[in-house]
Amino acid sequence: MTAVKVGLLGLGTVGAGTINLLERNNDEIARRAGRGIEVVAAAARNLDRPRGCSTKGIRLTTDPFEVVNDPETEIIIELMGGYEPARELVIQALRNGKHVVTANKALIALHGNEIFGHARDNGVTVAFEAAVAGGIPIIKSIREGLAGNRIEWLAGIINGTANFILSEMYYEGRQFGDVLAEAQRLGYAEADPTFDVEGVDAAHKLTILASIAFGIPLQFDKVHVEGITHISREDVAYAEELGYRIKHLGICRQTDEGVELRVHPTLLPSRQLLSSVDGVMNAVMVMADAVGPTLYYGAGAGADATASAVVADLVDVVREFELDPVNRVPYLAFQSTALSDKPVLPVSNIVTAYYLRMEVADQPGVLADITRILGEAGISIEAILQKEPAPGAEHVPVILLTHPVRERQMDEAQERMEALEAVQGRITRIRQEQLQ
Ligand code: NDP
Ligand code: HSE
Repeated sequence: MTAVKVGLLGLGTVGAGTINLLERNNDEIARRAGRGIEVVAAAARNLDRPRGCSTKGIRLTTDPFEVVNDPETEIIIELMGGYEPARELVIQALRNGKHVVTANKALIALHGNEIFGHARDNGVTVAFEAAVAGGIPIIKSIREGLAGNRIEWLAGIINGTANFILSEMYYEGRQFGDVLAEAQRLGYAEADPTFDVEGVDAAHKLTILASIAFGIPLQFDKVHVEGITHISREDVAYAEELGYRIKHLGICRQTDEGVELRVHPTLLPSRQLLSSVDGVMNAVMVMADAVGPTLYYGAGAGADATASAVVADLVDVVREFELDPVNRVPYLAFQSTALSDKPVLPVSNIVTAYYLRMEVADQPGVLADITRILGEAGISIEAILQKEPAPGAEHVPVILLTHPVRERQMDEAQERMEALEAVQGRITRIRQEQLQ
């Protein structure tokens, strides 16, 4: 049988990784798919730039629409990134009757509902395993492997760059900016790295995971998003003293009232499995009613790991070439006509414990004022750490761990504490989870 002809949009980190992997494991991939897979056309912006792969035998162009409209290409792999022109190209490919594989979480999180509609209308498919947690087959695991369960919550380290930065700050005491530059050199970061450090990339991925886990539409605009830029080396060290690690997590949970969707730095007990996930590795813990907790771990970014997921999708698409579209696995795990309209809850509704760090005047009565405000707000304290003042300093750092409380109550208490004359500047606040 002749090889399936593929068009590739983007020849960067993941594009080059995909060409290399298809070449390296060519025979095994063909034995799995039932046919060989051959990249025949590819687009990049600058054709003079050296590529980390061979482009021999591939028609190269700077116009991605040429690839999408090329009558020879049967599957389009979109690895350019960004919202536009990726959205327009993917829709054009679907209209041309071509299947699409993409690693673009931004595109799926924001425009997935529209894109799946075009795929259905044209009897073709869109596969996006590489969009979440790099090489970990998390979408397939939840969508297919856990299909008999009611998923209660999931929590994951789903941005490799942020995890790499926090790990380097913890183990090596390195500066944020240096580590970010290294993540960019290694090909982990997004074209706009603020997406990684401000939590936007993790929010894209959480949007997709929550839809697949709970059968709700993609709702990126409802995710509560916080990044890691306000986390200091001191916070990392104080958390360790208290027996915790700081991790950047995406968390979604179903409650009777609605769905929580949030991305933020989180204190986790050091003994929690997710606390040992370091560097560019990702991990997602899923709590489901029948199977209980399951944990999925692997490289969250990088050329080879991401190509692994892209090629797995390609193999799936080739295997299902002749399948009646109605019998394909639904994109968001649940039938598109059976999605739930459960509301996404405002973050002020969530109940969680907190780490608070504040700079307070080194004088009697200050701690009493702080504990009084917390007590009046119904917030009980789990631990307090007061550090020595630096030589000549008038303020000392005080670190508090609280028991779980509704976020709204903490907002009010924080405002009152920050209004105290003895409290200098803003209080650093990090949510704390046990994940039990
Ligand atoms: P890169 O920036 O390394 O590569 C993007 C490629 O797209 C480049 O080859 C670029 O061309 C090309 N390109 C961009 N815009 C255009 C355009 N308008 N016309 C033609 N070509 C264009 O990105 P990555 O490979 O890192 O990421 C690709 C996708 O994969 C993104 O959606 C990303 O979020 C996702 N992803 C990335 C992971 C990673 O570890 N890097 C992991 C998981 C997902 P040129 O090279 O000439 O500039
Ligand atoms: N920039 C992303 C990350 C790539 O660091 O996780 C993988 O999606």
